[in-house]
Amino acid sequence: MTKVLITGGCGFIGRHVAQELLDHGYEVRLYDALIDQVHGGTQVALPEGAEVVRGDMRDADRLRPALRGCDGVIHLAAEVGVGQSMYEIARYVGANDLGTAILLEAMLDHPVGRIVVASSMSVYGEGYYARPDGSLVETVRRRPADIKAGLWNPTDLAGEPLAPIATDERKRVDLASIYALTKYAQEREVLIFGEAYDVPAVALRLFNVFGAGQALSNPYTGVLANFASRLASGQRPTIFEDGEQRRDFVHVRDVARAFRLAYEKPEAAGELFNIGSGQAYTISGVARLLAGAMNLPHLGPEILHKSRSGDIRNCFADISKARALLGFEPGHRLEDSLTEFVDWVRGEAVIDRGAEMRRELEAKGLVS
Ligand SMILES: NC(=O)c1ccc[n+]([C@@H]2O[C@H](COP(=O)([O-])OP(=O)(O)OC[C@H]3O[C@@H](n4cnc5c(N)ncnc54)[C@H](O)[C@@H]3O)[C@@H](O)[C@H]2O)c1
Repeated sequence: MTKVLITGGCGFIGRHVAQELLDHGYEVRLYDALIDQVHGGTQVALPEGAEVVRGDMRDADRLRPALRGCDGVIHLAAEVGVGQSMYEIARYVGANDLGTAILLEAMLDHPVGRIVVASSMSVYGEGYYARPDGSLVETVRRRPADIKAGLWNPTDLAGEPLAPIATDERKRVDLASIYALTKYAQEREVLIFGEAYDVPAVALRLFNVFGAGQALSNPYTGVLANFASRLASGQRPTIFEDGEQRRDFVHVRDVARAFRLAYEKPEAAGELFNIGSGQAYTISGVARLLAGAMNLPHLGPEILHKSRSGDIRNCFADISKARALLGFEPGHRLEDSLTEFVDWVRGEAVIDRGAEMRRELEAKGLVS
C-alpha cells in the first residue's frame, strides 16, 4: 500500500488531505508541530487510521525517521498569516523556507517517488487586469500614496480604471509580503529539487480555502473563519479598505481532491497549478452571505476604510490548467456550502481575537 507523509497534516487542509487519501486506499503519516496559534492546546480530531508524529520541520532528527517507509510527501506545514509575517519575519522564513530545506535534505537520504507542495495565490500579488479596450495588464502595483488616499482600485498610468480578470499560472510572480516570499521559496525549492534529483514534483497555488475545521481562533488567516468568529461572538465582521476587493473561495474538500490528483497524475510532474473555484466574490458580499447563513443579517460588515500592508486588491483563479491536466473540477460552491460550515461553527468553542490582531498590526505601523 502507498504511504504518504503529510507535513502540517494536523492542520485544516492536512486533515482533509489525509481523509481523502485514506478514502482512496493510501496509508498516511502526519508530521506536525501542532503549533499553539493554530491548535491552541486543544485536542485535534484526526482521521481514523492516520499515524501521527509530532515534530517541527526544522528538527531534522525527528523528521528523518518520519520519512522512513513513506513513498511520497505532501508538504503543507507552514506558518500562514500574511499580516503577521510582516513583523515575525524570522519565524516565517524559518518555519517555511528553512523547514522545506530540511525536508529536502532529508529526502536525499530517504528518496521518495513524488512530492506535492502547497504554494499560494499570494505569490501573484495583484491578479491580472484588463484595460477598457480589453488588453491585458499583467503586473499592477498600487502606489502606497494612492492606498493612503483611499484610492483602492488600481488604475493604469493615465489614471484609467482597470477591470480585474481571472489569473492563470503564466502571470509573473510579484511578491508583496514576507508570507508570499516564503511560499514562493517553498514552491521553487521543491520544483528545483524535483528537477535536479528526478523526483516528480508538483506545486499547487491555493486560493482562499474554506470549510469545516479551519482554526477559528487564529485571526491571522482564513477570511471565512475570522468572520464566523466575529459573528458567533455577536460582533460585526471587520473589513479592510471598502470591502469590494475580490477573492476566490475554494472548498477544502475540493482542495484535498486536487492534492490527490496532483499526487497521482503522471502529467502533473514538474508543473504548478492554480487551485481555486474560478469564481470571484467581494469580501463584503461574503461577510453578508455568512451573516445570513448564521441568521444574523443585522450584523453587517464594519468597513474600516483602512489598508493593511501586504494586502492585494483582487485575485481570482483561472483553473483551466488544473482542469486540463489534473481533471480537477470544483464540486462545492461557496453559496451552497455555508449551511454545512455554519453547522460546524455552532459546535465549536469560538474565541474572537480579531481586535487583538488589528491592535498588533496597528502598533507595528502596518495599518494606514
Ligand atoms: N488555508 C488557505 O486558504 C491557504 C491558502 C493558500 C495556501 N495555503 C497553504 O496550505 C498549507 C496548509 O494551510 P492550512 O490552512 O491547513 O493551515 P493550518 O495552520 O491549519 O495548518 C498548518 C499546519 O502546519 C503546522 N506547522 C506550522 N509550522 C510548523 C513547523 N515549523 N513544523 C511542523 N509543523 C508546522 C501547524 O501546526 C498546522 O497544523 C500551508 O502551506 C499554507 O501556506 C493555505
